[in-house]
Amino acid sequence: MSYERPNIQRMTGYASGEQPNQPGIIKLNTNENPYPATPAVAAALAELRVEVLRRYPQPLANDFRRVAAQYHDVTIDNIIATNGGDELLRLVITTFVDVGDTIAIAEPSYSLYPVLAEIQGCEVARIALQDDWTMAEDFAAQLNASGAKLAFIVNPHAPSGVLTPAARLAAIAEEFDGVLVIDEAYVDFIDPEQHYDAAALTKRFDNVVILRTMSKGYSLAGLRFAYGIAATSLTEPMLYKTRDSYNTDVISQVLATAALSDHATAAQGWEKVRSERVRVKTALTALGFSCADSQSNFLLAQVPSADMRYESSELMAREFYQRLKDDGILIRYFDQPRLRDKLRITIGTFDENQKLLQHLETYLGKT
Ligand SMILES: Cc1ncc(COP(=O)(O)O)c(C=O)c1O
Repeated sequence: MSYERPNIQRMTGYASGEQPNQPGIIKLNTNENPYPATPAVAAALAELRVEVLRRYPQPLANDFRRVAAQYHDVTIDNIIATNGGDELLRLVITTFVDVGDTIAIAEPSYSLYPVLAEIQGCEVARIALQDDWTMAEDFAAQLNASGAKLAFIVNPHAPSGVLTPAARLAAIAEEFDGVLVIDEAYVDFIDPEQHYDAAALTKRFDNVVILRTMSKGYSLAGLRFAYGIAATSLTEPMLYKTRDSYNTDVISQVLATAALSDHATAAQGWEKVRSERVRVKTALTALGFSCADSQSNFLLAQVPSADMRYESSELMAREFYQRLKDDGILIRYFDQPRLRDKLRITIGTFDENQKLLQHLETYLGKT
């Protein structure tokens, strides 16, 4: 006899990217930052004493919220700190979507969204992105037609890295009748020349939640700290009703505050990632791959099509993923429609990227 709720019994959980322990593995599979967190974070960590763990943390992480509010030019009441972005995704569902309601997602995107929807017992409306991974002109109308109470958009898009301008997001927020969650997990890697800033939308619209995480841009994936920015009518029910009583711990609050306060230093790493992104994309293109125009810290690369040794591009992509893995380089392969002929490759350090490119050259017989 099973005690699980029927929807939990039916579902399969989220499959994380592999996190191997062996040294020497080149990890280009889970979009981690290739550079360590800044010296300010290391110093804050070194200063922590075990005594700080005796007491409970600040329930709302107010020190962090103050720094985040200043950074985004909003008030502290517009910020909610969470145990990773994944907790915020779960919280918005718990707070704004009833069991049996519909959640809309742009398809394809972060595969955790439908899993969280299933946990809540929600329907999922999958709104297909266009061939270039942008949203169709009538995207907001499709959201409304689905009856969705909440929609997830990831920007820059994952897994392609394609960026939607903030003005377009504003138009969608205006037309959509539900809560629009703009997941900006990879926002720090956007070219500054794009002048992208969607956080300001939270002042204009009472239905927009922006997700920011310390995991990617700030090299703190192991810490589990993120935050949301939204109108107070959205943050307050999460802050005071649905959040776990102490949802972020003392250590993560101190380190995340140090990291965000030192964003200017972290930005030097973002610039290195951007220049490597250009270099790797150019090299992959020269090898015959075609890559979407990524503003993120990864590339979605479609395998070269003219290789007669493989029955299909899907088989070629799958084999490249497996060969790389056998050779100690992890990347991500998504066994799902529209992605089976593609490899998602996180931008690593120069040396890591070189090794990846050398292996791909060898598989293609170009060395
Ligand atoms: C699109 C997207 N959103 C949110 C997250 C959540 O990140 P975290 O829970 O580490 O903050 C991730 C992590 O990979 C992601 O890819």
